[in-house]
Amino acid sequence: MSHAAAVLGSKLLLLFLHVVASIGLNAEQQWPVPYRRFDRRPDVDSYCQALYPFCPTGDPDGRIPYMRDSDVVSVYRLQTPVWEFKYGDLLGKFHIMHDAIGFSSSETGDNFTMEWYELFQLGNCTFPHLRPEVSAPFWCNQGAACFFQGIDDVHWSQNGTLEKIGEITGRQFNDMARWVQDDNETGIYYETWTVRSDPGPNASVWFESYDCSQFVHRTYRKLTELGAKLSSRSQTNYTKIYLYSGEPTYLGNDSAIFGQPALENLATDIRKFYHAFRPHQSFIDLAFSLLEAYKKVVLDKSFYLYYNFEYWHLPMKAPYMQITYEEVPLP
Ligand SMILES: *[C@@H]1O[C@H](CO)[C@@H](O)[C@H](O)[C@H]1NC(C)=O
Ligand SMILES: *[C@@H]1O[C@H](CO)[C@@H](O)[C@H](O)[C@H]1NC(C)=O
Ligand SMILES: *[C@@H]1O[C@H](CO)[C@@H](O)[C@H](O)[C@H]1NC(C)=O
Ligand SMILES: *[C@@H]1O[C@H](CO)[C@@H](O)[C@H](O)[C@H]1NC(C)=O
Ligand SMILES: *[C@@H]1O[C@H](CO)[C@@H](O)[C@H](O)[C@H]1NC(C)=O
Ligand SMILES: *[C@@H]1O[C@H](CO)[C@@H](O)[C@H](O)[C@H]1NC(C)=O
Ligand SMILES: *[C@@H]1O[C@H](CO)[C@@H](O)[C@H](O)[C@H]1NC(C)=O
Repeated sequence: MSHAAAVLGSKLLLLFLHVVASIGLNAEQQWPVPYRRFDRRPDVDSYCQALYPFCPTGDPDGRIPYMRDSDVVSVYRLQTPVWEFKYGDLLGKFHIMHDAIGFSSSETGDNFTMEWYELFQLGNCTFPHLRPEVSAPFWCNQGAACFFQGIDDVHWSQNGTLEKIGEITGRQFNDMARWVQDDNETGIYYETWTVRSDPGPNASVWFESYDCSQFVHRTYRKLTELGAKLSSRSQTNYTKIYLYSGEPTYLGNDSAIFGQPALENLATDIRKFYHAFRPHQSFIDLAFSLLEAYKKVVLDKSFYLYYNFEYWHLPMKAPYMQITYEEVPLP
């Protein structure tokens, strides 16, 4: 089949899927699409190899120390520019920030850092690998919580934020710890993108990201639910990476798309789409990839989003992609 015919074929298929979606499933489609929870976290495929070990100083079994009920535990808001260890605060200027939460026990004087991040870095969670021997793009996209002893004051405060935002009891801390372990076991993959219909205040949200700042917001909400009062003297802003599109169309999972000859055009299109954006190890490569992605998306007005281990087609529209640093107030 010629390229033009293949493109036409996949356009027709998308149109078909869209029509099917709008007559059948659309009535029940819930937006934003709920992030899928799992019964338990699966083992990581051995193809995925971390350049930097995940959570090197945390407890190997993810245990969180028990606090006495009567303890008073301070809660800190922690924020620092991403990749700071390699690129100074360059990304801080673009406000690509990493968020975490700190705790310190007044009874023992011990303090701790808790964060949620990618097992194989941001590039691997944003773009898949195209492996010659596997037809479906291959994702190393797990993310997880890391709890470890110590708060590196200089690391957080020098180019970022270290601010005490409240106090909780030891009992509230222990309740939160149980919740974190369950959240960590059931929410297993990282999602970089938030997808909305436009940048305005009344936009439809099609997909929510699932990243370090979302974990921080969930934890703050949980602490509030447990009775904590949190407050900050400064504006609490967070990084969001947006895509803008019309109503998305559901395409299917790996076996539905890549296991069926009938959908070969779509499978080829998805592989082609991701070819330009293979995950990279250096930030410079990733930045170029994002630029390339931007150009492609603007020209083709098309994006294949992988969410809940399923593909969706996004009919992209201006301004296509944006990185913002916007306020999300404490609960
Ligand atoms: C991304 O995944 C690939 C494939 O496993 C791996 O070789 C690479 O080290 C990962 N990148 C980082 C930064 O961990
Ligand atoms: C979360 O899961 C990861 C991956 O299995 C594990 O390394 C980590 O210790 C867990 N963290 C917590 C706080 O349970
Ligand atoms: C803060 O940023 C400066 C300038 O980029 C850098 O030299 C310094 O190492 C950073 N501080 C920390 C604690 O990483
Ligand atoms: C955490 O503990 C270390 C070591 O005792 C101390 O240097 C640091 O100031 C503490 N940080 C906070 C925010 O409590
Ligand atoms: C958003 O919706 C509200 C309530 O329906 C309306 O009052 C407001 O004018 C809308 N704002 C924009 C920018 O469309
Ligand atoms: C993929 O989707 C099909 C239905 O389209 C479903 O039957 C199958 O269980 C799904 N596979 C996985 C691994 O979720
Ligand atoms: C924080 O967010 C608010 C509202 O979302 C915005 O007006 C403000 O400029 C942001 N602050 C910074 C430092 O970007």
